[in-house]
Amino acid sequence: MHLRAGHPTDFATPSATLRDLPPIRRRLTLRQFARITRNQLESLPAETFRERIVHTRVFGRDRYHVMDPELIGEALVRRADIMRRAPEMRRALVPLLGEGLLTAEDSNWRWQRRAVAAGFQPARLADMVPTMLAAAERTRDRWLAAGDTPLEIAHEMMRTTFDIIVETMFDGGAGLDVARVARSITDYAHPLGWVLAYSLARLPDWTPYPGRTRGREAAAYLRGTLAAILAERRARPSARADLVAMLLAAVDPQDGRTMGDEEIIDNLLTFVTAGHETTSLGLAWTFHLLSRHPEVEARLFAELDAVCPGGTVLPAHLPQLTYTRQVFSEAMRLFPPAPMISRYVAEDMELDGVRIPANAMLVVPIYAVHRHALLWSEPERFDPDRFAPEAAAARSRYAYMPFGAGPRVCIGNGFAVQEAVAILAVLLARLRLRDAATVPSTPVMKVTLRPSPDLAMRAEARHPA
Ligand code: HEM
Repeated sequence: MHLRAGHPTDFATPSATLRDLPPIRRRLTLRQFARITRNQLESLPAETFRERIVHTRVFGRDRYHVMDPELIGEALVRRADIMRRAPEMRRALVPLLGEGLLTAEDSNWRWQRRAVAAGFQPARLADMVPTMLAAAERTRDRWLAAGDTPLEIAHEMMRTTFDIIVETMFDGGAGLDVARVARSITDYAHPLGWVLAYSLARLPDWTPYPGRTRGREAAAYLRGTLAAILAERRARPSARADLVAMLLAAVDPQDGRTMGDEEIIDNLLTFVTAGHETTSLGLAWTFHLLSRHPEVEARLFAELDAVCPGGTVLPAHLPQLTYTRQVFSEAMRLFPPAPMISRYVAEDMELDGVRIPANAMLVVPIYAVHRHALLWSEPERFDPDRFAPEAAAARSRYAYMPFGAGPRVCIGNGFAVQEAVAILAVLLARLRLRDAATVPSTPVMKVTLRPSPDLAMRAEARHPA
């Protein structure tokens, strides 16, 4: 099967490509580039939503945007050996995350991935469900007590998922000043648009930008506070089965290597940061879409009422909430929380006849792939039935990839989906959210995809049928 303009389909088979279209070249103007610091979605040429490969040059560096699912598989999976973390991503994240799982490369990455994989096995994830349900219940009770006061939904979800990651990582919370940790992560993340833009422009590391000192202080606080927790755990080993214990016990099966303190801190910070904001944004966008699609909301309520009698959600209910999961998947199609993957290509390569030179940037614009005119029928329409089992199975694996693809696919994928379904179920079994915005929110990408301004919504109690 071949995809052609004018014949969009949701059922692209793995062999389907967008090969009919020639690759196109486009220059990015300086003005467009300046807008990237405010919203990285602005860096996506309009052609990425309808073409196969789009080539741009930014400050003398080639960028190849790849949207054809078959070519994405070729690059991220089959040629993974020559794909490196983008230098601007490392420049933005290494000062905080060091050489942890997200930022490390080659053998240093490989052994860490093997070492932590056990912590994300289905049996371990199942142990975390009660923590996830309890955090969602606290949010639900807070919302029901808020009455008519509008809620800032992305912020509310961030609070909920942050609680969950801290509790699953540090059993008992470890005396962490959760509010200060959350604030420090925000302070660090706030100026990253500048770091990314400067890195693209190849300006030296010391070039000043607003928020730099505050960001550096935040990183020092975060690393120091985790070092203290780690020292305490090393001094008084406990029987807790949390992420700290897993990292302390991690051994490379091949050469017996274990993690030093710096590596453990790198990974704890990696999991705290990578492990809460993305899920919270996926949830915030889900509420936004539900409030605009009453027919989808009604079907979701019907599923919850049938599976969770009386509005009480139990761990055993989660696997039965198939439509709820479809709604979350479709929300992440329209608003992927991590909307772009970029790689630096270490050697010359060819993608279906297009030569990609060494040192070029390869960008997989997940946001554009998920809304591509030739991959999806009515791409802008919110339709969770696209994720009914047969429809999803008939589609190319690389047409939908909110969690990325290849060896560096998100390790928290199963964690995030389980958490999202648990939170949606607990909240929506007892309430509905209604838009209370005075100004409409739009998607803004600053590493992740946020609603700007935050979504203002009101919670209304709902009595399950
Ligand atoms: C809806 C929620 C989430 C989304 C959309 C998401 C998305 C992604 C994506 C796209 C990547 C690949 C980046 C690349 O290839 O450059 C990634 C990697 C990663 N994610 Fe997630 N993520 C989510 C939740 C989580 C959670 C809950 C955790 C941890 C508990 C987590 C931890 C990580 C880590 C450690 C990596 C790096 C893996 C590696 O390089 O080996 N993520 N995530």
